[in-house]
Amino acid sequence: MLILGIETSCDETAVAVLDDIQGILSDIISSQLEHSQYGGVVPEIASRTHLKTILPVLEKALSAAKVSLSQLDGIAVTCGPGLVGSLLVGISVAKALHFSLAIPLIGIHHIEAHIFAAILENPELSPPFVALVVSGGHTQLIFLPAFGVYEILGSTRDDAAGEAFDKVAALLGLGYPGGPIINRLAEKGDPEFMKFPRASVKDFEFSYSGLKTAVVNYVKNSPADIVRRHLSDIAASFQEAAVDVLVEKSIQAAKHKDVEKIAVAGGVGANSRLRNLLKERAAKAGVSVFYPSPVLCTDNGAMVAKAGAFRLSLGQTSGLDLNANPRMKL
Ligand code: KG4
Ligand code: ZN
Repeated sequence: MLILGIETSCDETAVAVLDDIQGILSDIISSQLEHSQYGGVVPEIASRTHLKTILPVLEKALSAAKVSLSQLDGIAVTCGPGLVGSLLVGISVAKALHFSLAIPLIGIHHIEAHIFAAILENPELSPPFVALVVSGGHTQLIFLPAFGVYEILGSTRDDAAGEAFDKVAALLGLGYPGGPIINRLAEKGDPEFMKFPRASVKDFEFSYSGLKTAVVNYVKNSPADIVRRHLSDIAASFQEAAVDVLVEKSIQAAKHKDVEKIAVAGGVGANSRLRNLLKERAAKAGVSVFYPSPVLCTDNGAMVAKAGAFRLSLGQTSGLDLNANPRMKL
């Protein structure tokens, strides 16, 4: 069975072809560089860029997979949450293909897709498990008692983890998206240079505004040449604080639910310090951790296709009334 996966919820235009037996046949991702000068995603620019890019990306995905449209068995598309104008571009293309090819259309929740990215490369990962979802828009711990069943254990009260990386990078004048830049810079820095605060919010909730403010205050109150000289140390110290709480709470959540598996999903899941620290501390707690490879942590079409194959196997499809839902619930 061949499923096309389309993802346009934010600033990546992505299309993939997935074979349910052979796996990913193609996975084309076009990241919008247009936003870097603004330090964040500009919704109007995002939707206009998706419009320009979606058809070339679709054609590339089909030709890389050596698959023609007529061979497809289903079209999966992210329908929320995300930027409404961006979501609508992917949904419109998916609906046109669904209508003209007369094959099933499957609207997919973006976070469900991220969780399925971990399953794509780890077929042995099956529920029950705890998923740590860390992206630019979400920071959540979710318990999956079964595939497709989501019990949210806790979310961020303010900024998402990825948002904190992006804001701190902008503050340090490093560019956008900040996560990968801080990650690279931190490799050369001392994580103990500054002890930035770990948020103490209850249970499985998170908060990143205090950490962000602590970095802002440090930078404001320090001479510019000291900041410049210690950029990698500041990045490493911030990253250590940001990652530390994610690791601790993920392990606590696994213990609370009495499960031995944690799956990591979302763009911040590509962070090398998070991956190493979680693996190390989870091993001590007798818990296994499952990651998508870094390229499948950030937005992509393959994860949407994988979630689509799952929903299709349950007979859950969408009609031409499928709409973008910017605040879609899991
Ligand atoms: O999942 P994603 O591609 O899009 C959303 O659904 O939001 O996540 C994007 C976020 C951005 O905030 C980006 O800075 C962050 O993931 N990110 C990282 C890394 N790679 C991407 N954060 C920390 N370390 C990384 N290596
Ligand atoms: Zn995402």
